[in-house]
Amino acid sequence: MAAFQVGYIGAGFISTFHARALQYVRGIELGGVYSIKGSEELQAFAKKIGVGECTVQPSIAELCKNVDAVCIFAPNFARIEIMQAIVDAVKEGAELKGIIVEKPLGRTVAEGQILVDLAKEAGLPTAYFENQIHMKGINAAVQQLAPQQKSMGPITLCRSAEEHAGPHEPWFWDPTKQGGGVLSDMGCHSIAVAWHVLNPIGKPIDFLKPISISCDTALLKWGTKEGQKKLMEKMGVDYSKTPAEDFATGVVTFENPETGQRVKGQFTNSWMFDKQGLRLYMDGLGPGYAFELNTLQSALQIFIGDEAAEAVADAEIALEKSTATRGLLTVEPNEADLYGYTDEIIDACNAFKQGKDALLNFEYGLEITKLCQAGYMAAERGVTLNLTDPQVQEDLKTYQSLISQGRGAEVLHVM
Ligand SMILES: NC(=O)c1ccc[n+]([C@@H]2O[C@H](COP(=O)([O-])OP(=O)(O)OC[C@H]3O[C@@H](n4cnc5c(N)ncnc54)[C@H](O)[C@@H]3O)[C@@H](O)[C@H]2O)c1
Repeated sequence: MAAFQVGYIGAGFISTFHARALQYVRGIELGGVYSIKGSEELQAFAKKIGVGECTVQPSIAELCKNVDAVCIFAPNFARIEIMQAIVDAVKEGAELKGIIVEKPLGRTVAEGQILVDLAKEAGLPTAYFENQIHMKGINAAVQQLAPQQKSMGPITLCRSAEEHAGPHEPWFWDPTKQGGGVLSDMGCHSIAVAWHVLNPIGKPIDFLKPISISCDTALLKWGTKEGQKKLMEKMGVDYSKTPAEDFATGVVTFENPETGQRVKGQFTNSWMFDKQGLRLYMDGLGPGYAFELNTLQSALQIFIGDEAAEAVADAEIALEKSTATRGLLTVEPNEADLYGYTDEIIDACNAFKQGKDALLNFEYGLEITKLCQAGYMAAERGVTLNLTDPQVQEDLKTYQSLISQGRGAEVLHVM
């Protein structure tokens, strides 16, 4: 049977990661790419690692004609124009079987809603890519503890964190382009994981009802004079004028609609995590049982002394967002699989082949966008936000955080 062909829109960091994931997947190939920059490099990489022809396409319309599903792997600020171009291509006859979008679905609830509406207009199945819900470690923990959940009761607290020293491209740091700071960029992962882990075993992905959220957004590292200077030099953004949060933490309270039991998901995200590199940390506590997952605890450690380090260039070989090339390094040899990228593409393509949405569809992505934006709203208002209040739900539909409007200095402490 012919391989299912996916086409990437965007050829940057995440496209390369997803291409790597395809090495561990059967029956799915990278058929083509359309991007403003980087297409030829991605094509060469795809051919080198044997994951598909990855033909370079001159437009989104051409890409859509030549693949089975398209993946929006471009920056957050380009979502709507790209989605519109896909819908136009479908109306002009492109026979796509599904559309995939990377997180976040939108920079605001209103943007996310437009994506949902456009997908409906195209009449196509969707996949919202939240890789961490597909992490083998997370799902093994949930499965392993299924008997305990059944006999003792569900997990009542999940703490979920994603942290690193800061993103790789300037647009991530510009809150008006990205949609905020680390809460918009990575809070979406941690909130989704907590919700997933807390859902009682066997229940749908959105079973528990989010009833309230509290949140603290702060600028701990990149708002100091030294931090601002470094950011300006490295990324060309001015955090004395348009800062975004580099730390966010909060609690989402969920209620079980059948039993009334309340459980909590605590999220923590930072761009000021000066350790070896990216760390995903999740734990779950139920009555009499628990799990803990920390991606910086690899089975493999490498030591490189000062003398030998001069020969090594920092190429993120050890780990995503790695910060060091000497000393005792944590090395994750298969990050694409560890973080869930392999399992999410398998899930999406299998669903599309049957004409169905992936486990996580655009509507689910919109719920996550809503929770992240509710986090900003709670932090701005200095309250625990009641998500069951119809007025709060109404406000969220048109809400845009001060930070994403470029007015972060009004809510963050800038030195
Ligand atoms: N799941 C994760 O953990 C994860 C990690 C990183 C990024 N992401 C998401 O993936 C998306 C892309 O991030 P990235 O890190 O690859 O960014 P990037 O800046 O490294 O790459 C973006 C690519 O898109 C291209 N591009 C820009 N505008 C475009 C347009 N209008 N049409 C077509 N191509 C365009 C650029 O030329 C570049 O090749 C973002 O939405 C980000 O949130 C997810």
